[in-house]
Amino acid sequence: MDNQSLIREIREKVDIVDIIGERIPLEKKGKNYWAVCPFHDDTSPSLSISREKQIYTCFSCHATGTVYTFLMDYENMTFPEVINYLGERIGIETKSFKMKKKDSKYDKYYEIYDFCVKYYQNNLSTEVGVEARNYLQERGITEEIIKEFQIGLSLNSSDDLTKLLTLKKYDLTDLNTIGISNYGHDIYSNRIMFPLHDPSGKVVGFSGRIYGHDKSSKYVNTKETPIFTKGECLYHYHIAKEEARISKKVIIMEGFMDVIRASTIGVKNTIALMGTALTNEQLRLIKRLSNHIILCLDGDQPGKNAAYKIGELFLKENIEVKVITLPNNDDPDSFILKEGKDSFLSYIENAVNYNDYKIKVLGENINFNSAEETSNYINRVIEEISTIDDSIRTEIILKKLAKDFNIEYNTVEKKFLNLRQNSQKQAPQQELKKVSISQKDKYRKAIEQVIYFMLTNDWVISEVSKERLLISDEDVRILVKEIIYYYQKYGSITIADFMTYLSDKKELLVSLNSIINEAYMDQVNKETLYLYFKVIKEDTIKRQIKVLERKLKEELDPKKQAIIGNEIRALRIGDNING
Ligand code: GTP
Ligand code: MN
Repeated sequence: MDNQSLIREIREKVDIVDIIGERIPLEKKGKNYWAVCPFHDDTSPSLSISREKQIYTCFSCHATGTVYTFLMDYENMTFPEVINYLGERIGIETKSFKMKKKDSKYDKYYEIYDFCVKYYQNNLSTEVGVEARNYLQERGITEEIIKEFQIGLSLNSSDDLTKLLTLKKYDLTDLNTIGISNYGHDIYSNRIMFPLHDPSGKVVGFSGRIYGHDKSSKYVNTKETPIFTKGECLYHYHIAKEEARISKKVIIMEGFMDVIRASTIGVKNTIALMGTALTNEQLRLIKRLSNHIILCLDGDQPGKNAAYKIGELFLKENIEVKVITLPNNDDPDSFILKEGKDSFLSYIENAVNYNDYKIKVLGENINFNSAEETSNYINRVIEEISTIDDSIRTEIILKKLAKDFNIEYNTVEKKFLNLRQNSQKQAPQQELKKVSISQKDKYRKAIEQVIYFMLTNDWVISEVSKERLLISDEDVRILVKEIIYYYQKYGSITIADFMTYLSDKKELLVSLNSIINEAYMDQVNKETLYLYFKVIKEDTIKRQIKVLERKLKEELDPKKQAIIGNEIRALRIGDNING
């Protein structure tokens, strides 16, 4: 069975209402089911789920999709994972499902890395690895952890790895390109090797740590290569991906020793930034894991500064952020070693909301004996809470502020309400989006309605192919072509299946989703359909006339001018006869 047929079969046997209903409360109103949309911050039911069409749409944030996209977005699953999950559920064999391989040109690189992992692991377990093993043991890294995290060892000033790989017929240039060798020499020398994985779990680089008495830089990471982008690297992401799905949150740490240590006490929904900076790419990747983030950076000043900065970035993305402040300059690794599992778990349990954390940080180093510093502080705090979207919490903070500093509650509240009004004036973005969607002209609406009819009434498809409409907008023109192609190939079409079929044609999918969001009519008769065709043809003629008029203006030869003039007249007459 080919992929599309399998996708269709699963979709036909699964009911989107069941799948969504198992995850969020639904209410039946009319033909459709309604829920509070999980894809944006909302309190009223704006997500509508159609059993008949097997799709969902949110009229507020415009999230649109099928049972497949719902599970991918809500459960953070990949498409093949959803296929397996649903296939298992309804007892359909999904082994035949194959994702198109996108990076096959890099397969060789991944192969080399897999070999290197085994090679380094082997070094660590043999005689040459005694000193490194002792170092790891002293740090409380057991045999079990070494295996789980595939920790290895590179040899002192050796070219053995490069030689082995060239014997296996790998190209020296390839070994240079991916950061394993440098002109025939091994790049890593006498370091404990930690493999770095990409989000799908393939090894794409290493971080090598010094041990013993070496005085060079503590860690050396693989350089930027075709398969390794530093700004995108997040240690343990491929594991945290699964774990965050279960625990619904993800913990961010600085170093990968922290992540490894946390893993030993069963805390595995963790990732490491590999430092204190957070890139946009990393932010985007983390957003895919969860809407609940806990920052657990080092307890020292750089760690605190980073938590303050990074928390703000997540907040801007509407992600709930909490912060753990470890005591005494500890990092999670040293804290867990000293204080143990239960103590660390209670720190996670008691992570403070980022806004509260920020207010606390604002108060550090303020001289509350100075009236000026104090009033500056109070104003800053009110500014901060004016952005919090939770009236109970803001009231609690304001009351505490009034009490702590012995100010009238009204004074504090007045300032707060002023600021809140201003901040709300500045953010009408969501409204704008809604307007632009319905700002389609009547021709665009006509062609979109025809496309919708094609997806809800098979017979419309052959009418459209017979009619040979000239459609000016490229996206809808291609959509029409794709619908006709799909129908010819599979013999039937539904909105849900067609959406899945378009999933790797992102731009077309955006156009289709915008059509679905317009709530067009489902049913049509031939007569009405031809009224829509007429509107589309009028548009085509108008555009053709415009092009000719432009040509006419630029034409200098009177004979040619006359020809163009006639063409325009002919089109105008045709337009009138049609209209
Ligand atoms: P340990 O000293 O082994 O416990 O490491 P750590 O996890 O405590 O690391 P630290 O807090 O010093 O740094 C956090 C992260 O920053 C590390 O996991 C590394 O990814 C990165 N890092 C630290 N030092 C270096 C360095 O010298 N070079 C590079 N490239 N990265 C480093
Ligand atoms: Mn450390």
